[in-house]
Amino acid sequence: MLYIIGLGLGNEKDITVRGLEAVKNCDKIYLESYTSILQCSKEDLETFYLKKIILADRNMSEQGFETILNEAKVKDVAFLVVGDPFSATTHSTIYKEAIDEKVVVEVINNASILTAVGRVGLELYKYGKTTSIPFVDNVANLETPYNVLKENQSIGLHTLFLLDLKPPSEFMTIKEALEILLKIESVKLQEVISADTLVVGCARLGSDNMIKSGKLKEVKEYDFGKAPFCLIIPAKMHFVEEEMVEMWS
Ligand SMILES: C[S@@+](CC[C@H](N)C(=O)[O-])C[C@H]1O[C@@H](n2cnc3c(N)ncnc32)[C@H](O)[C@@H]1O
Repeated sequence: MLYIIGLGLGNEKDITVRGLEAVKNCDKIYLESYTSILQCSKEDLETFYLKKIILADRNMSEQGFETILNEAKVKDVAFLVVGDPFSATTHSTIYKEAIDEKVVVEVINNASILTAVGRVGLELYKYGKTTSIPFVDNVANLETPYNVLKENQSIGLHTLFLLDLKPPSEFMTIKEALEILLKIESVKLQEVISADTLVVGCARLGSDNMIKSGKLKEVKEYDFGKAPFCLIIPAKMHFVEEEMVEMWS
């Protein structure tokens, strides 16, 4: 049996009771370690679960998944994912491969960055397309996050930007993300974003929740502390949304 288990966003204690019971019964446990991070270490998880954990990097999860599936044919295997396993990063390929190989799969959901942003106070159903800002060598060639922002703004919807990361050491900061968007603006000149645009920077949602709203030029200089980070650009707001966003200024 293969269990695909969401760990939530905070620390070892954010796993659900059902997730924890599954982990405790599994013979082998893998942790997907490249799409997000928790506020605790692999060792903290091991101590809490009383189980050894194997780190699965991008290569192992995407190319070497066959090994995990072969094991799941004869043992109970857990594949742990930070946040929710099917939110933001979909692990649908892994799920589909398992089903094709006739492995029985159980998915155990958890909180995701896509729901934790609700904490900011902008209505979740008033967000448009979510977009990512990737690490790139040449920002001038990067258009997608800017185009998505423009499209969302044109229909009055808020935009959530997920920021690239290469755990354990590289995490795009909110300052870097804002500078990238300003750089694209300086090339495209479509008046989508400026130093005075209202933005909301967030770090570690679902644990100690660092949230800061204000003009881009102010939020850019704010020290958000440890990763992970994301960025929101609100569009048209209801007065309750305005009051909530103002609270973080
Ligand atoms: C690809 S998504 C991973 C989604 C994960 N499966 C989930 O459901 O939350 C990872 C990105 O989301 C953002 N993110 C994830 N967790 C976060 C948190 N707790 N606080 C702020 N941003 C977060 C960061 O931009 C990070 O690079």
